[in-house]
Amino acid sequence: MKIGFIGGSGIYEALPLENTREEPVETPFGEPSTTPVVGEFGDTGREVVFLPRHGPDHQHSPTTLPYRANIFALKQLGVTHVLASNAVGSLKEDLPPQTLVVPDQIYDRTKHRPLTFFDEGIVVHQPFAMPYDEELVSILAEAAEEATDAQVQEGGTYVCIEGPSYSTKAESEHYRAQGWDVIGMTTIPEAKLAREAEMAYATITGVTDYDVWKDDSEVTLDEVLKNAAANEEAIKETVEAAIHKIPDGHETDSHSALEGTINTPDEAIPA
Ligand code: ADE
Repeated sequence: MKIGFIGGSGIYEALPLENTREEPVETPFGEPSTTPVVGEFGDTGREVVFLPRHGPDHQHSPTTLPYRANIFALKQLGVTHVLASNAVGSLKEDLPPQTLVVPDQIYDRTKHRPLTFFDEGIVVHQPFAMPYDEELVSILAEAAEEATDAQVQEGGTYVCIEGPSYSTKAESEHYRAQGWDVIGMTTIPEAKLAREAEMAYATITGVTDYDVWKDDSEVTLDEVLKNAAANEEAIKETVEAAIHKIPDGHETDSHSALEGTINTPDEAIPA
């Protein structure tokens, strides 16, 4: 078992890792966002791999991010469990900025992203009704409750928009009318690709703003960055506590997710 952490906006520094080393990985999908860092995590004897999703200086936009290279690189490094974080807007009055939400559902509104590793010569129909690993969702939510003073919600729907602009009021009101919880730009295709790579995956999202549904509200970058920085400590504490909570040898359905999903006969699959 090996744990990876993909840090979202506001999380550019690694967790407290010791004896760290950079692990450059070549992938068929180009370079990952940056070189992953591997290190020993406290007294757990576990190696953890850290990858800041947007690169160390936030160079990658939500559309052009190398999601496939990132997940491929983590898989190459032996990662079996991916904990992620994302900055999100809130679609609910009772989820104010600096709330932590561990979503268990996704509504995909992206438009211009490769969504699969399997787009040439092999057709894979991946079950995705429960897009996050259910055991990791519970572990992250429990970790957030125990390790932070933040308001925490376990479960909820993350609407993933293409960006990079924020939503219109009509869009935001529509999402609210569905009862969805948070809105962001980066959980798709990351969660799908992790499932295809047979890794357990879940995310801790930190609310940075009320999106645009509130009267006179416009999302400002200043507000997002300020609250992302304020959420950083709680997100790191959550991830650290979650790393302690994942039992040795932990396995879930995510680790055999490809079984029975390949719709191309073996003899037709390119070598
Ligand atoms: N990330 C942070 N806040 C957001 C919002 N309101 N919409 C989309 N992505 C976001």
